[in-house]
Amino acid sequence: MKTVAVIVGSLRRDSINRRFAEVLAGVARDRLSFRFVEIGDLPLYNDDLFAEGVPAPLQRFKDEIEAADGVLFVTPEYNRSFSPAIKNAVDWGTRPWGQNSWAGKPAAIVGATPGGTGGAAGQNALKGLLNVVDTVLMGQPEVYFVWKDGLIAEDNSVTDPATEAFLKSWAARFDDWIDRVGTPRRNAA
Ligand code: FNR
Repeated sequence: MKTVAVIVGSLRRDSINRRFAEVLAGVARDRLSFRFVEIGDLPLYNDDLFAEGVPAPLQRFKDEIEAADGVLFVTPEYNRSFSPAIKNAVDWGTRPWGQNSWAGKPAAIVGATPGGTGGAAGQNALKGLLNVVDTVLMGQPEVYFVWKDGLIAEDNSVTDPATEAFLKSWAARFDDWIDRVGTPRRNAA
Protein backbone atom coordinates (compact mmCIF):
# COMPACT_ATOMS: atom_id res chain seq x y z
CA MET A 1 0.00 0.00 0.00
CA LYS A 2 1.21 3.50 -0.75
CA THR A 3 2.41 5.63 2.15
CA VAL A 4 1.57 9.28 2.64
CA ALA A 5 3.68 11.52 4.87
CA VAL A 6 1.18 13.78 6.64
CA ILE A 7 2.27 17.22 7.79
CA VAL A 8 -0.19 18.94 10.10
CA GLY A 9 0.40 22.67 10.26
CA SER A 10 -1.03 23.19 13.74
CA LEU A 11 1.05 22.20 16.74
CA ARG A 12 -1.68 22.47 19.33
CA ARG A 13 -3.01 19.40 21.11
CA ASP A 14 -6.68 19.88 20.24
CA SER A 15 -6.09 20.95 16.65
CA ILE A 16 -9.05 20.43 14.35
CA ASN A 17 -6.59 20.01 11.50
CA ARG A 18 -4.89 17.13 13.27
CA ARG A 19 -8.31 15.63 13.94
CA PHE A 20 -9.31 16.15 10.32
CA ALA A 21 -6.11 14.42 9.19
CA GLU A 22 -7.02 11.48 11.42
CA VAL A 23 -10.51 11.41 9.87
CA LEU A 24 -8.98 11.35 6.38
CA ALA A 25 -6.60 8.58 7.42
CA GLY A 26 -9.65 6.51 8.32
CA VAL A 27 -11.54 7.35 5.15
CA ALA A 28 -8.50 6.54 2.98
CA ARG A 29 -7.31 3.47 4.86
CA ASP A 30 -8.15 0.96 2.09
CA ARG A 31 -5.87 2.83 -0.33
CA LEU A 32 -3.33 4.91 1.53
CA SER A 33 -1.35 4.44 4.73
CA PHE A 34 -0.94 7.79 6.50
CA ARG A 35 2.29 8.40 8.44
CA PHE A 36 2.17 11.51 10.62
CA VAL A 37 5.43 13.46 10.45
CA GLU A 38 6.44 15.58 13.45
CA ILE A 39 7.38 19.18 12.65
CA GLY A 40 7.16 20.69 16.13
CA ASP A 41 10.75 19.72 16.95
CA LEU A 42 12.26 21.57 13.99
CA PRO A 43 13.81 24.83 15.23
CA LEU A 44 13.17 28.06 13.38
CA TYR A 45 15.26 27.86 10.22
CA ASN A 46 18.84 29.03 10.70
CA ASP A 47 21.78 28.16 8.42
CA ASP A 48 24.12 28.21 11.43
CA LEU A 49 22.50 25.01 12.71
CA PHE A 50 24.37 23.14 9.95
CA ALA A 51 27.73 24.03 11.53
CA GLU A 52 28.04 20.53 12.97
CA GLY A 53 26.27 18.70 10.16
CA VAL A 54 22.61 18.03 9.52
CA PRO A 55 20.64 18.51 12.77
CA ALA A 56 19.09 15.24 14.02
CA PRO A 57 15.43 16.37 13.84
CA LEU A 58 16.00 17.51 10.25
CA GLN A 59 17.58 14.21 9.21
CA ARG A 60 14.65 12.32 10.72
CA PHE A 61 12.22 14.68 8.97
CA LYS A 62 13.91 14.36 5.57
CA ASP A 63 14.10 10.57 5.85
CA GLU A 64 10.37 10.37 6.58
CA ILE A 65 9.47 12.62 3.63
CA GLU A 66 11.76 10.82 1.22
CA ALA A 67 10.48 7.39 2.28
CA ALA A 68 6.86 8.28 1.50
CA ASP A 69 5.09 7.87 -1.83
CA GLY A 70 3.26 11.17 -1.39
CA VAL A 71 2.97 14.11 0.98
CA LEU A 72 -0.22 15.60 2.39
CA PHE A 73 -0.23 19.08 3.90
CA VAL A 74 -3.06 19.74 6.35
CA THR A 75 -3.00 23.44 7.07
CA PRO A 76 -4.94 25.77 9.29
CA GLU A 77 -5.58 29.26 7.96
CA TYR A 78 -3.81 31.98 9.90
CA ASN A 79 -4.61 35.51 8.77
CA ARG A 80 -5.45 34.31 5.27
CA SER A 81 -2.24 32.33 4.91
CA PHE A 82 -0.89 28.93 5.93
CA SER A 83 0.81 28.38 9.24
CA PRO A 84 4.42 29.39 9.97
CA ALA A 85 5.11 25.84 11.18
CA ILE A 86 4.51 24.64 7.62
CA LYS A 87 6.73 27.32 6.07
CA ASN A 88 9.49 26.39 8.47
CA ALA A 89 9.18 22.67 7.71
CA VAL A 90 9.07 23.24 3.95
CA ASP A 91 12.18 25.44 4.09
CA TRP A 92 14.12 22.87 6.13
CA GLY A 93 13.15 20.17 3.65
CA THR A 94 14.88 22.06 0.82
CA ARG A 95 18.25 21.96 2.60
CA PRO A 96 21.15 21.11 2.65
CA TRP A 97 21.54 22.81 -0.71
CA GLY A 98 21.17 20.26 -3.51
CA GLN A 99 19.30 17.78 -1.31
CA ASN A 100 15.72 18.97 -1.71
CA SER A 101 13.48 16.30 -0.17
CA TRP A 102 10.38 17.65 -1.94
CA ALA A 103 11.61 17.31 -5.53
CA GLY A 104 9.17 15.31 -7.63
CA LYS A 105 7.06 14.30 -4.64
CA PRO A 106 3.32 13.94 -5.32
CA ALA A 107 1.57 16.32 -2.93
CA ALA A 108 -1.87 17.48 -1.90
CA ILE A 109 -3.24 20.20 0.38
CA VAL A 110 -6.31 20.05 2.58
CA GLY A 111 -7.34 22.01 5.63
CA ALA A 112 -10.10 22.72 8.11
CA THR A 113 -11.35 25.85 9.80
CA PRO A 114 -14.37 26.64 11.95
CA GLY A 115 -14.90 29.62 9.61
CA GLY A 116 -17.13 29.53 6.55
CA THR A 117 -14.39 29.82 3.93
CA GLY A 118 -12.84 26.49 4.94
CA GLY A 119 -9.35 27.97 4.87
CA ALA A 120 -9.34 28.53 1.10
CA ALA A 121 -7.03 31.55 1.28
CA GLY A 122 -4.48 29.72 3.41
CA GLN A 123 -4.45 26.68 1.16
CA ASN A 124 -4.10 28.77 -1.98
CA ALA A 125 -1.15 30.65 -0.49
CA LEU A 126 0.54 27.30 0.15
CA LYS A 127 0.16 26.20 -3.48
CA GLY A 128 2.75 28.71 -4.69
CA LEU A 129 5.32 27.57 -2.15
CA LEU A 130 4.83 23.89 -2.95
CA ASN A 131 5.31 24.58 -6.66
CA VAL A 132 8.53 26.47 -5.99
CA VAL A 133 9.99 23.60 -3.97
CA ASP A 134 9.20 21.21 -6.83
CA THR A 135 6.43 19.02 -5.42
CA VAL A 136 3.95 17.77 -8.01
CA LEU A 137 0.79 19.23 -6.58
CA MET A 138 -2.68 17.81 -7.19
CA GLY A 139 -5.06 20.60 -8.23
CA GLN A 140 -8.42 18.88 -7.69
CA PRO A 141 -10.47 18.10 -5.71
CA GLU A 142 -9.94 20.97 -3.32
CA VAL A 143 -10.92 20.28 0.29
CA TYR A 144 -11.93 23.42 2.16
CA PHE A 145 -13.36 21.66 5.18
CA VAL A 146 -15.70 23.70 7.35
CA TRP A 147 -15.53 22.13 10.80
CA LYS A 148 -19.06 21.97 12.27
CA ASP A 149 -20.19 20.45 15.53
CA GLY A 150 -21.55 16.96 15.01
CA LEU A 151 -20.09 16.41 11.54
CA ILE A 152 -17.35 14.19 12.96
CA ALA A 153 -18.30 11.62 15.61
CA GLU A 154 -16.19 10.74 18.66
CA ASP A 155 -14.79 7.72 16.82
CA ASN A 156 -13.74 9.98 13.89
CA SER A 157 -16.45 8.64 11.58
CA VAL A 158 -18.13 11.20 9.28
CA THR A 159 -21.81 11.55 10.18
CA ASP A 160 -22.94 13.06 6.86
CA PRO A 161 -22.92 10.46 4.01
CA ALA A 162 -22.38 13.05 1.27
CA THR A 163 -19.36 14.47 3.09
CA GLU A 164 -17.95 11.00 3.64
CA ALA A 165 -18.44 10.14 -0.04
CA PHE A 166 -16.64 13.35 -1.04
CA LEU A 167 -13.68 12.59 1.23
CA LYS A 168 -13.50 9.03 -0.14
CA SER A 169 -13.43 10.42 -3.68
CA TRP A 170 -10.60 12.73 -2.63
CA ALA A 171 -8.63 9.72 -1.35
CA ALA A 172 -9.21 7.86 -4.62
CA ARG A 173 -8.02 10.86 -6.62
CA PHE A 174 -4.86 11.29 -4.52
CA ASP A 175 -4.13 7.56 -4.86
CA ASP A 176 -4.48 7.88 -8.66
CA TRP A 177 -2.38 11.07 -8.63
CA ILE A 178 0.50 9.28 -6.92
CA ASP A 179 0.26 6.50 -9.53
CA ARG A 180 0.34 9.04 -12.36
CA VAL A 181 3.09 11.40 -11.24
CA GLY A 182 5.06 9.55 -8.58
CA THR A 183 8.32 7.69 -8.92
CA PRO A 184 9.12 4.57 -6.89
CA ARG A 185 10.22 5.63 -3.45
CA ARG A 186 13.88 5.42 -2.59
CA ASN A 187 13.63 3.75 0.80
CA ALA A 188 10.82 1.31 0.08
CA ALA A 189 10.46 -1.25 2.85
C1 FNR B 1 -6.91 31.99 13.01
N1 FNR B 1 -8.11 31.51 12.52
C2 FNR B 1 -8.51 31.83 11.23
N2 FNR B 1 -9.54 31.16 10.63
C3 FNR B 1 -9.89 31.44 9.33
O1 FNR B 1 -10.82 30.82 8.79
N3 FNR B 1 -9.21 32.41 8.63
C4 FNR B 1 -8.17 33.11 9.16
O2 FNR B 1 -7.58 33.93 8.49
C5 FNR B 1 -7.80 32.83 10.52
N4 FNR B 1 -6.76 33.48 11.12
C6 FNR B 1 -6.25 33.03 12.30
C7 FNR B 1 -5.04 33.54 12.80
C8 FNR B 1 -4.47 33.01 13.94
C9 FNR B 1 -3.15 33.54 14.42
C10 FNR B 1 -5.13 31.97 14.62
C11 FNR B 1 -4.49 31.35 15.86
C12 FNR B 1 -6.31 31.49 14.18
C13 FNR B 1 -8.91 30.56 13.31
C14 FNR B 1 -8.46 29.15 13.02
O3 FNR B 1 -9.10 28.66 11.84
C15 FNR B 1 -8.85 28.25 14.20
O4 FNR B 1 -8.21 28.72 15.37
C16 FNR B 1 -8.48 26.82 13.96
O5 FNR B 1 -9.02 26.02 14.99
C17 FNR B 1 -6.97 26.65 13.88
O6 FNR B 1 -6.65 25.34 13.47
P1 FNR B 1 -6.27 24.20 14.52
O7 FNR B 1 -5.17 24.71 15.39
O8 FNR B 1 -7.52 23.90 15.32
O9 FNR B 1 -5.88 23.04 13.66
